[in-house]
Amino acid sequence: MATILCRTIGFLLLFSTLLSVSVAISFSPANDYLIDCGSVVDSIIDNRRFIGDASSSNRKLLSSQGSITLQSEDPSTNLPQIYHTARIFTRQAKYEFNVVENGIQMVRLHFHRFNSSKFDFSDTEFHVMVNGYVVLTNFSGDDDVNSSTNFGPRVREFLIWVDVGEVVIRFIPSKDSKLAFVNAIEVISAPKDLIADVATSVSNDGTEKFNGLVKQAMEVVYRINVGGRKVTPFNDTLWRSWVPDDEFIKVSDGSEKVYFSGRIKYKLGGASREVGPDNVYNTARVVKSNNGSVSRVNMTWEFPVSSGYKYLVRLHFCDIASISLGMLYFNIFINGNLAYQDLDISDATTYVLASPYYIDFVVDDEYSSSSSSSGLISISVGPSSKSVEDAVDAILNGVEIMKMNNTLGSLDGFASTEMILSRCPNRRNLSLFMSMVAFMCILMSVYILIQRRKAKDGFGWLRLSDSVPEDNNLKTVNRV
Ligand SMILES: *[C@@H]1O[C@H](CO)[C@@H](O)[C@H](O)[C@H]1NC(C)=O
Ligand SMILES: *[C@@H]1O[C@H](CO)[C@@H](O)[C@H](O)[C@H]1NC(C)=O
Ligand SMILES: *[C@@H]1O[C@H](CO)[C@@H](O)[C@H](O)[C@H]1NC(C)=O
Ligand SMILES: *[C@@H]1O[C@H](CO)[C@@H](O)[C@H](O)[C@H]1NC(C)=O
Ligand SMILES: *[C@@H]1O[C@H](CO)[C@@H](O)[C@H](O)[C@H]1NC(C)=O
Ligand SMILES: *[C@@H]1O[C@H](CO)[C@@H](O)[C@H](O)[C@H]1NC(C)=O
Ligand SMILES: *[C@@H]1O[C@H](CO)[C@@H](O)[C@H](O)[C@H]1NC(C)=O
Repeated sequence: MATILCRTIGFLLLFSTLLSVSVAISFSPANDYLIDCGSVVDSIIDNRRFIGDASSSNRKLLSSQGSITLQSEDPSTNLPQIYHTARIFTRQAKYEFNVVENGIQMVRLHFHRFNSSKFDFSDTEFHVMVNGYVVLTNFSGDDDVNSSTNFGPRVREFLIWVDVGEVVIRFIPSKDSKLAFVNAIEVISAPKDLIADVATSVSNDGTEKFNGLVKQAMEVVYRINVGGRKVTPFNDTLWRSWVPDDEFIKVSDGSEKVYFSGRIKYKLGGASREVGPDNVYNTARVVKSNNGSVSRVNMTWEFPVSSGYKYLVRLHFCDIASISLGMLYFNIFINGNLAYQDLDISDATTYVLASPYYIDFVVDDEYSSSSSSSGLISISVGPSSKSVEDAVDAILNGVEIMKMNNTLGSLDGFASTEMILSRCPNRRNLSLFMSMVAFMCILMSVYILIQRRKAKDGFGWLRLSDSVPEDNNLKTVNRV
């Protein structure tokens, strides 16, 4: 740590004299655990070192009684090295990471069902919990509808508030006949400004304040770079991925993509570079009016989501398209409800063009499609009554949608951690333990009997009382 700090300071001293523009210190998280599961060697991806969890010095992170390391037999694939190994769990297992500072932890789990002659990934089905939250249930490592055509790795990201202490990630096979696995784990403390505590809740009844966002567990379900290209972890300040919006935009008539090659002006009070990187803010889709009248079109995106949860919808804006300030006004609709009227982006960014800004909304999936099992979140931006002619009349640069935990503390179904832990007692484990306890008891009784016979004086009863705690232990086990 100290050397990194020294190097950073040295770097800053050297370069701040050379550069006239301000040097942005890149974010350095308080915790940064990168684990390459099932690997004895470390993997380096985009200058980030994933530590092999099978190397002797890192075994302390993992507590498991039946885990197997698995190596891909076809490491020639051009996938990153973390996807060449996996750790398979035959029983409940957990990874524990110390957390040195209160705050939100970004937990990323990487799953890749690579081809192996030694292991059949179709035997995997498991639950994952992070601290008190259920994050995945009946998960196979691949719940993509198009999994038959799409074999790539799956990354699941969760944002979870953790007090000083630890992050505990549990993997629990859903049945005795099933197995759990994971290829890589990231546990990174998020910057303090990543999630604000207050947002605007939008429903058919209008808008109201939503408090307590920071303490909700969330799963990132969509991270979209509107009008732009895919942004990979290499180009993101928090090693996130952002995907293009093309498959989600439903109504794009009268809209166009814009790209800005100038500098994005990050300012205090607006979005920081950690909230959204340059590559997200320097592209957008806009509605433009020409021909002397404001065009009456909305741009609309639709995102399929699972029903029964609240979602945090974060919209990213950066006016990279207007030719001058004070000309861009528009309305935002979520699920057809007016979420923000006459947004004046110049005012929001204290009158600086190309300055990034974001707004957080909390919504349900009320706008349900015909099928009852899955819902949709629709987002529209379009001209408002204040929109001016011959100008940009609506803009959107990025969208993030995060699922919030339900009242049972789950992000995946209607079972709490307690319910799952009680339902999955891991019988093999328990029965083995029980027979060991029984065997010990027999040994003890034999021992006591022998001692009693040997001891003709008062020692015998002392030995007997020694065995009482053993009995209590047995009862405790029975209750489990
Ligand atoms: C795994 O094997 C199947 C068929 O044998 C093949 O179609 C598929 O591309 C392979 N997957 C990977 C990730 O190599
Ligand atoms: C997992 O799936 C089984 C059967 O499909 C279901 O009974 C069970 O409730 C599910 N478990 C959880 C925790 O959702
Ligand atoms: C699955 O693939 C088909 C054909 O490529 C595509 O039409 C469909 O939208 C895809 N579904 C999802 C959920 O990606
Ligand atoms: C990073 O971003 C730059 C500029 O947009 C692009 O040229 C480059 O290909 C990106 N690199 C990766 C690894 O995505
Ligand atoms: C503007 O006018 C031209 C010619 O009159 C027409 O071709 C074009 O479609 C119009 N554009 C819009 C956005 O109405
Ligand atoms: C945009 O969508 C909203 C909500 O669906 C609707 O009320 C409004 O009239 C639309 N605006 C235009 C210009 O079509
Ligand atoms: C998420 O879980 C917490 C308990 O950890 C609970 O207080 C909160 O109400 C849950 N969120 C929702 C939206 O139900």
